[in-house]
Amino acid sequence: MPVDDASLPQWLLLREPADAAARSEALTRDVAGSLGSAEPLHMLDLGTGTGSNIRYLAERLRGPQRWLALDRSAALLAELPRRMVSWAATRGYAATVEGGRCTIRGARFECVIDTHAIDLTLLDDRRIFDGRRLVTASALLDLVSESWLAALAAHCAAENALALFALTYDGRSACAPADPEDEMVRELLNRHQRRDRERGGRAAGPAAGPDAGALAERCFANAGYRVRREPSDWRLVPADADMQRTLIGGWAEAATEMAPDRASAIASWHARRLAHVAAGRSSIVVGHDDLAAWPGPHRARNVATTG
Ligand SMILES: C[S@@+](CC[C@H](N)C(=O)[O-])C[C@H]1O[C@@H](n2cnc3c(N)ncnc32)[C@H](O)[C@@H]1O
Repeated sequence: MPVDDASLPQWLLLREPADAAARSEALTRDVAGSLGSAEPLHMLDLGTGTGSNIRYLAERLRGPQRWLALDRSAALLAELPRRMVSWAATRGYAATVEGGRCTIRGARFECVIDTHAIDLTLLDDRRIFDGRRLVTASALLDLVSESWLAALAAHCAAENALALFALTYDGRSACAPADPEDEMVRELLNRHQRRDRERGGRAAGPAAGPDAGALAERCFANAGYRVRREPSDWRLVPADADMQRTLIGGWAEAATEMAPDRASAIASWHARRLAHVAAGRSSIVVGHDDLAAWPGPHRARNVATTG
């Protein structure tokens, strides 16, 4: 969902429980099984935000883990240690923060996290992939371009790294009770998701948007990977009222940006959907998928970069 930078920390906090409930446990388990736990595992998390993906994976991957967490937003990364510490407290894990490095110790894992603010639009610094056993991200792939996905697959293949990308929006949504304008808003949102992106003055091309899962599957298969995808839909119930309100508001905003001439119809739709939420009768399903990729024997040798 399109969210402005100021609202992103709150939105990431709100969505974290829904993300954790939606993710494919089976895919995560199979990736964890392929990693083993004998040595410190070097992991790369792209578009970390405040660290939700690391919190989900740390206790499922087991063993000693060394994480590099990258995001273009230094403000979001600065939140990560605080959120890690409070998450660790709820789980009974020990947590320390020293000079920006965060260490979490549980009975079956130890997780050291370093953060670095970097704009990944061009994905042209191959050093961030050096020696990584796992390359991962959550809620990122629909924001990037097809050429970015191809470069990502090539970088992963060059390191023989496993890949796990969770919660990629796939363009589906269903609201209950249904409204005649749900479909119009969904189509406008999906057009919004595919718009050209620009970051730091650099053109990034059209975003993969709802096609990201299929495009990522093709890019990793072309790089010699065996790929599996599993659904990871959000299933929001009336009790998820805050998240539903924020989601509906974001959809209305994106739809209006794409079709200003339909602003009044979109505002009426927004009001009707909010009324369903307020009355405790609104449920929303949002389509996502998780993708895992295992390097095969014929992996690519040349690393492409986006341009
Ligand atoms: C939807 S958020 C997901 C955050 C986190 N992975 C999670 O699941 O909570 C997408 C994240 O990607 C980051 N991001 C988007 N484009 C980026 C880019 N070009 N370079 C680095 N980070 C980027 C954003 O700052 C944001 O934190």
